[in-house]
Amino acid sequence: MKIIKLEEIKNLSNDELFNYFKNVVVIPTETVYGLAARIDNEEALKNIYKIKGRPSDNPLIVHVSSYEMLVNYIEGEVPVEYRKLIDKFWPGPLSLLFKAKNTISKVVRGNMETSVVIRMPKNKDLRNLIERLGVPLAAPSANKSGKPSPTEISHILDDLKNEVDIFIDDGRCTKGLESTIFGIVDSKYVLLRPGSITKEQIEEVLETQIEVKIKADLKDKILCPGQKYKHYSPNHPLYIFKGDSWFINMENERLNNEKKIVGLLKRGDINLNIDNYIVYDLGSDLETCAINLFDGIINLDKKCDIIFVKEFEENDLGLAIMDRLNKAATKII
Ligand code: TXA
Ligand code: MG
Repeated sequence: MKIIKLEEIKNLSNDELFNYFKNVVVIPTETVYGLAARIDNEEALKNIYKIKGRPSDNPLIVHVSSYEMLVNYIEGEVPVEYRKLIDKFWPGPLSLLFKAKNTISKVVRGNMETSVVIRMPKNKDLRNLIERLGVPLAAPSANKSGKPSPTEISHILDDLKNEVDIFIDDGRCTKGLESTIFGIVDSKYVLLRPGSITKEQIEEVLETQIEVKIKADLKDKILCPGQKYKHYSPNHPLYIFKGDSWFINMENERLNNEKKIVGLLKRGDINLNIDNYIVYDLGSDLETCAINLFDGIINLDKKCDIIFVKEFEENDLGLAIMDRLNKAATKII
């Protein structure tokens, strides 16, 4: 097992770099760490599913280094709406749903008929690495399936060190939540996963409202298979407290769990007495809370028997934060 800094990758010879990507590699992105394989390496792609314990029908996001690379892998033209979004948000945490060329392995597509989700990551050194490989990298988040996503190498080292040889490290991810997934489905604009690029930001560029379909509706065709599965769950229970009486309810739950060590994911704006909790301070603004969210959950999970958090308002970045918390929660009070 080897940890190498992202900025040192440029010092590797091509032989060394190509050797690394004979198998699965942990890569840093601005959103979360990914478990990556070249999209032309079937064995490594299959290994991603095996290492994560990922259901085989849950497709992987493809990471490209340039617009030229993107157009090589998609069927037809890039829709004009996507071009506007790409101009504004790429490179960055926005993934788009495209019609895939059938040369893209079924393993990447999770056996989905013809679609593929593609993004261009922000980290310049990562894009240079992909450019040198000459082929996109498919990468889901580097956590074991169902667990919180990693925003630092330390979050996954114990889980993966026996299964992955190369970890590329770039410190704490600068966004901290997975990319937003947006698609045009049956001519409708659909938000498939909320992320660091907000619904409001997309609507501003497209000058129209978009639909939100971020929960699996079993009556409907599932557009984004990841929605069906359990996500972000810490080992210990996590409770979300809502509404005006949230603090009284939280104190009652703390007293009900008297023998337990209770953790609190705190936002900067709470000024009530929280001396009885092990506190992880998420920060005061939404961007900082997003960056720290998974680190907070993972940290409190190690120290506490139960984790409490106050709800966030579900707009702007709050929509993505609450999406992750709702999926992590065992109880909403
Ligand atoms: O920020 C991110 O997007 C990170 C980093 C590593 O880039 N990746 C990530 O991948 O979050 P993952 O596997 O944890 O989430 C991918 C989501 C899943 O919910 C999957 O179902 C959906 O994207 N997805 C991938 N390809 C799809 C496709 N062809 N059609 C519909 N949904 C797709
Ligand atoms: Mg994931």
